[in-house]
Amino acid sequence: MGLLLKNANIVTDKDKFLADVYIENGVISKIGENLNVKAERTIDLTGKYLMPGGIDVHTHFDIDVGIARSADNFYTGSLAAAYGGTTTIVDHMGFGPKGCNLHHQLDYYHNLAKDSVIDYSFHGVIQHIDQNILGEIDQMIEDGIPSFKGYMTYGYKLSDIEMLKLSEKLSKSGGLLTVHPENNDIIDFFREKFAAENKLSPIYHAKSRSDKCEGEAVNRMIDITNMTNCPLYIVHLSCNDALEHIKKAIDKGQKVYAETCPQYLVLDEDLYNRKDGVKYICSPPIREKSHQDKLWEGIQNGYIQTIATDHCSFNYELKKEMGEKDFRNCPNGLPGVETRMSIIFSEGVSKGRINLNKFVELVSTNPAKIFGMYPKKGAIQIGSDADLVVIDPKLKKIITAKELHENVDYTPFEGIEIVGCPVMTISQGEVIVENNKFVGEKGRGKFIKRNPFKS
Ligand code: URP
Ligand code: ZN
Ligand code: ZN
Repeated sequence: MGLLLKNANIVTDKDKFLADVYIENGVISKIGENLNVKAERTIDLTGKYLMPGGIDVHTHFDIDVGIARSADNFYTGSLAAAYGGTTTIVDHMGFGPKGCNLHHQLDYYHNLAKDSVIDYSFHGVIQHIDQNILGEIDQMIEDGIPSFKGYMTYGYKLSDIEMLKLSEKLSKSGGLLTVHPENNDIIDFFREKFAAENKLSPIYHAKSRSDKCEGEAVNRMIDITNMTNCPLYIVHLSCNDALEHIKKAIDKGQKVYAETCPQYLVLDEDLYNRKDGVKYICSPPIREKSHQDKLWEGIQNGYIQTIATDHCSFNYELKKEMGEKDFRNCPNGLPGVETRMSIIFSEGVSKGRINLNKFVELVSTNPAKIFGMYPKKGAIQIGSDADLVVIDPKLKKIITAKELHENVDYTPFEGIEIVGCPVMTISQGEVIVENNKFVGEKGRGKFIKRNPFKS
């Protein structure tokens, strides 16, 4: 006998209707009005929305960035995700030892992720290009990893020729290229210049990697992947310059996708001028306020297809603080895996910027489709995994780190008022969060073997 959800106001990316949902063996087995089935447990969802569980396709759990290891591992990070209504994460693997192959990191991450409380997958990480790496890509896809990330900055940045070779291979193999786009030379130039002028407070982090720096890199990757006919996914889009390039490419029919994150929609550059400005250091940086409306417009018009978090948490105390006197010493990244769904529901749906279907599309269905998990994930259909979130549209909360479950001593979203919050999370048919309590087991999450890219 299974779980019966009664009187659910079901919302998917396309529909909104009142029905009951019956779940057996972790999957949705019946959807209909007044279902007459014997259930082990029945939950009345009158007045609440039932949606596909959140899918966050950009996290960094248990990542070692050289100067620090992140505060959240796969257990604490996935727990926080579950509290926030997210039922699947796709983690960007960190860099491994110089010269390592792709499976080195995949094996390492399988081990790191075994305590996850929700389902998970990984994006492959490309540190260098040679015949061995290119030759390994087909096996990675076979192993359920069809998306790969190339960085245009940081230690293992790829050159244009490496991006060309990588994208040519991915386009032939059913892979998707995800890119961290920032022009490394521009960053180096301004870092050196500001250091020489003793301008090292957090605001100079933002000034050293401007919107032009991101826009140029996005445009270059659009051209490179156009030449190789490779699908391109831009991670953590933060600014209008980059968005304008993406719009043009999409309008011409190129397979380009863009992800933004809550921090770029609700926070602005002024925060870097605060005494605790290091708390907001991430790359690309938080932009001037004017970019927020442009990103919302991009979302409304379908040029931005997903909202993820780039959750990469470091404690303020001792870790982010390392950058107080010199922004270059601050580990980059922000927490956010727990607050994504409520911030986007509140700022998006409750404030009238997007409708309910668009919300589901952005936080669940599009991530599932782009990253090869649909309709197992991201759908409320017979046969889909019963990964679901219940949202109370009237519930109000003020975000505060004290009440979150992320294993980190601050949230960049402290004090933001939320209208509409996840109140129950169901993963593979099991209620794992209810009454603000996690009731699942450590390590219950499963690795999800993803399908090759399909446009
Ligand atoms: O600052 C950030 N975003 N850190 C995480 C790594 C990345 O660039 O995605
Ligand atoms: Zn990045
Ligand atoms: Zn990231």
